[in-house]
Amino acid sequence: MSKMFYVTTAIDYVNGQPHLGHAYEKVVTDVIARAHRSLGQAVFFLTGTDEHGQKVQQAAQAEGATPQAYCDVLAARFQALTRKLDLANDDFIRTTEPRHKAIVAAVLNKLHAQGDIYKAPYTGWYSGKEETFLTEKDRRPDGTFDPFWGEVTQLVEENWYFRMGRDQAWLVDFIESHPDFVQPVYRRNEVLGFLRAEALEDLCISRPKARLNWGIPLPFDAQYVNYVWFDALVNYISAAAAHGDPVVRAALGLQPADPPPATSAPALTLWPADLHIVGKDILRFHAVFWPIMLKAMGLPLPGKILVHGWWQKDGEKMSKSTGNVVDPVAVIDDWGVDAFRYYVVRELDIGPDGNWTDAGFAARYHAELANGLGNLVNRSLSMLKRYREGIVPATSAELAGEVSEAVARVKADLLDHRLQAALESIWSIVTRANQYVDQTAPFKLAKDPGKAARLDEVLYNLAETCRVLAVLLWPFIPATGERIFGQLGLTGHPGRFTATAWGGLTPGHRIGEVAPLFPRRDAPARVLEPRNAS
Ligand code: ME8
Ligand code: MG
Repeated sequence: MSKMFYVTTAIDYVNGQPHLGHAYEKVVTDVIARAHRSLGQAVFFLTGTDEHGQKVQQAAQAEGATPQAYCDVLAARFQALTRKLDLANDDFIRTTEPRHKAIVAAVLNKLHAQGDIYKAPYTGWYSGKEETFLTEKDRRPDGTFDPFWGEVTQLVEENWYFRMGRDQAWLVDFIESHPDFVQPVYRRNEVLGFLRAEALEDLCISRPKARLNWGIPLPFDAQYVNYVWFDALVNYISAAAAHGDPVVRAALGLQPADPPPATSAPALTLWPADLHIVGKDILRFHAVFWPIMLKAMGLPLPGKILVHGWWQKDGEKMSKSTGNVVDPVAVIDDWGVDAFRYYVVRELDIGPDGNWTDAGFAARYHAELANGLGNLVNRSLSMLKRYREGIVPATSAELAGEVSEAVARVKADLLDHRLQAALESIWSIVTRANQYVDQTAPFKLAKDPGKAARLDEVLYNLAETCRVLAVLLWPFIPATGERIFGQLGLTGHPGRFTATAWGGLTPGHRIGEVAPLFPRRDAPARVLEPRNAS
């Protein structure tokens, strides 16, 4: 089987409930996965949960639960979120699963056997909150550590280290010669700046069990568990190995019977990943540690690391303790999943930070979804019902040129993962078509029997534009794309980009039932009964 387009999200820590940041990243990835599928590629979309480490162990303790029981509850919640968000992910990996642990052990054994992992004593300053050792460089001018790090204590420990330093020049060279490896470009520059300014230290990849036991044991030293970040990054290849990926299995020397056994389904060819989508705070793990780990394993590097920014709410950092949070589940229950998906992708380009406000959400909902798209589809199809009994009249290509130009722009944007720009191009069609209704005034044409042929043309252009919009919108708001197809009476699926070709609706076709897609929420319900004249 030829290689699939393999796209991943970060795997979320289960030390708290899923929040807007998690949901945003998963929606962005889902739109990209669906877009590639629509464009005809075989796609594999992986997401999951990161369940080891101190933060999770502490969260479990605080709940009085064992780490495993705690993780099972939280992982179910993150899995429920994938369904709530309408994600079309192909797998959901949990780092506590045997299939993942087996691959982490295989990676550790390989690197250990090669001499890439060694044991050494270390004295240093340790942040328990961030699970990391700090260096003198992390001190503030007054000698203290930033409160971000929590309580910082001095620790002397023997630990296992992964050699990184010797690959620094290689990595700089790789990033320089692969301009798309880290995007946007300012994130790439950030990585290069860091790599040019500082000597890479070897990475401590163990934690003594005395200090932390919630982790994957080192297969060659029972006193230690693996550092959670080493474990977590491996998810991208452990999932591939579980699906039988020949590249990963060969690099790790896995035999067919070795765990995890490849599923009985035909093997999928996934590695190297085409796209890792991650937030800005975990850039260094993905653009520095991960490439060097892969090189040591003898595996090719991913095609692209796409780095998104962070959401704030009302201009402030989201924080559970102050209650300044956006609960994606509550928003979806209130407004619908497509309103949520649309807002987060349209509001925040992939890269910069964003700001959620409830007023901004409601404003986009009303202006762009209710009045823009919803109104266009509703009046176009309602008029076709009213004036032509729901039967598509003769064809016309009056809007074909403009629509096709926008379609070409959308395609280029999707292939480049410029999702916000793609939505802008899609809405240029929505706006144009709504203008077209106002300019051609079909309600006036309908009153003049001499204008029947003109009305046929106008109705065709509107219905056909709605059909093309359903296809363009499907990666972003799949349920809405499917509803528009349903209202058009089409039995096919809007998830094929080739169906954007003008002329899909044919004369004589009967459309389905028409219903509002995005009802307005701001106007009081109409008073239907005459009031009591008292
Ligand atoms: O970092 N806005 O997990 P995590 C946007 N387990 N994105 C946000 C955000 C916000 N306010 N807050 C978090 C981890 N994110 C590791 C990843 S990958 C091998 C291991 C993003 O639950 C964050 O940037 O802290 C990251 O990409 C993802 O949510 C998971 O964050
Ligand atoms: Mg985090």
